[in-house]
Amino acid sequence: MKSRVIQDEPSQSQSDKELRMAAITIPAVEVAARASTANGGPPVVSGRDLNRRYGEGETAVDALRGVSLDVPKGQLTAVMGPSGSGKSTLMHILAGLDTPTTGDVTIAGTSIHELNDTQLTNLRREHIGFIFQFFNLLPMLNAEENVVLPLSIAGEKRDQGWVDELMGRIGLKDRRSHRPSELSGGQQQRVAIGRALVSKPTIVFADEPTGNLDSKTSGEILELMRSSVDSYRQTTVMVTHDPRAAAIADRILFLADGLIVRDLGRSDAHEVIAVMEELSR
Ligand SMILES: Nc1ncnc2c1ncn2[C@@H]1O[C@H](COP(=O)(O)OP(=O)(O)OP(=O)(O)O)[C@@H](O)[C@H]1O
Ligand SMILES: [Mg+2]
Repeated sequence: MKSRVIQDEPSQSQSDKELRMAAITIPAVEVAARASTANGGPPVVSGRDLNRRYGEGETAVDALRGVSLDVPKGQLTAVMGPSGSGKSTLMHILAGLDTPTTGDVTIAGTSIHELNDTQLTNLRREHIGFIFQFFNLLPMLNAEENVVLPLSIAGEKRDQGWVDELMGRIGLKDRRSHRPSELSGGQQQRVAIGRALVSKPTIVFADEPTGNLDSKTSGEILELMRSSVDSYRQTTVMVTHDPRAAAIADRILFLADGLIVRDLGRSDAHEVIAVMEELSR
């Protein structure tokens, strides 16, 4: 099968060097399939005029200042922007982990405005997977127990065939009985990805999933994120500071000062870097 290689030119800077070190290879058929994933169906998650204010009075911080967006099914959306621009705040609000000061979020057709805490927890459990930068695994559980934790908490019966497939997909079939302390950072993050995917959520949010990993391991994690979109049509929104990570996305949103300031389609790492430079001027 022919492959398309996303690779960057040599350059002096460290980030460019890292970019160059970890070219990501994506099969050509998958690239073609991706182009047709936006089917114009209803968005799986949307935010309307989202504002989030932390604190009060003179020390108040407006982390989001009127963000509206629709996340279409089956796409990988990357969210970029400087530190403090509101990326994590936006992810938490779209995932129902936090509520906006004003504005509304709709998850799988349900406005979170209408829900009490229990209903919101149930909605999240059914529809949302979340991957954190620092993995957030339970140390006393082994890899497989961590992966199936959302099912255990919800009291749902596990489909062992699916769990086996998932353990293979995240490359941890032979390490399923290892505890997090016995796994590398990349392996721990793969457990966290398995945990996010196990309930087949409507949407997965990942907040800097490669932020704590070396370049090669990051490349493997990104391939896993991309393949879950391509194989399972897993709608995914991923925050990243890494242009190489953004280059595997179908769409790239740029935040600055609590606002979406750019909305790009598929772009290579060079185009992403150019926009980052333009926005930082
Ligand atoms: N719990 C909080 N209390 C007060 N201010 C907060 C809180 N959480 C975030 N903020 C502020 O809101 C703004 C946006 O923060 P947020 O964490 O969303 O940024 P970010 O884009 O994710 O940054 P980074 O790239 O560093 O993770 C920042 O000014 C931050 O200091
Ligand atoms: Mg953040």
